[in-house]
Amino acid sequence: MKVGVFDSGIGGLSVVKSLLQHQLFEEIIYYGDTARVPYGIKDKNTIIRYALEAVEFFKNFDLDLIIVACNTVSAYALDEMRQNASCSVVGVVEAGVLATSNALKEKKNASILILGTKATINSQAYEIGLKDLGFLNLTPKATPLFVPLVEEEIYEGEILEATFKHYFTNLTKPEALILGCTHFPLISSALANYFGEDTLLIHSGEAIVEYLEKHFNFTQKFPLPQMKFFASENPENLRRVAVKWLEL
Ligand code: DGL
Repeated sequence: MKVGVFDSGIGGLSVVKSLLQHQLFEEIIYYGDTARVPYGIKDKNTIIRYALEAVEFFKNFDLDLIIVACNTVSAYALDEMRQNASCSVVGVVEAGVLATSNALKEKKNASILILGTKATINSQAYEIGLKDLGFLNLTPKATPLFVPLVEEEIYEGEILEATFKHYFTNLTKPEALILGCTHFPLISSALANYFGEDTLLIHSGEAIVEYLEKHFNFTQKFPLPQMKFFASENPENLRRVAVKWLEL
């Protein structure tokens, strides 16, 4: 299978990392809209317009599947992308909802903290999906400051601890924590330290792998997929971060 992975910038590499670990695809085409990131502070119409441009970009590659690694795009533009794409399109929000539900099983009253960009949280996409499955103890929280910190490669330390304090001081410890943004897996160790190891972390990359394995029939493993990375601006930076995060 040949897959396209779309993100607003470099963050979607955290999803590519999970795809590589599970060796699902023969060819991976990554497109990050680095010229216009962040999407998480933009409005719905702009996010949809950008997402449809990405669909057009991917038409050059005869793909079997597009994975929308960006939570913000998955929350707002998935239907429009599906209507315009010439292949299947899957998004990380639906996958994250199902992964949370599978992990918590029948514990419908488990407390779930949902983190994301402002746009993702305002869309209520995770809340709607989880409520439909019977989970009602939900706390959505926009934590946009984590995005630039991760872009600055700050994954631990004082500044991050100060932002945890800023966002989480009045919250009770959740049973599950949804990392509803491509950047947040990079600070998952710091979040696990803050909340304690018994808080279950839901990671978009792992969630999409679980979703794909359930919905598609993978018969082969590809330990060395062909990969191409595209960025709408500063491709050198995408390359540098890809080499680092993906350990290429
Ligand atoms: N990729 C975005 C997401 O997962 C985070 C960065 C942005 O705001 O564009 O929501």
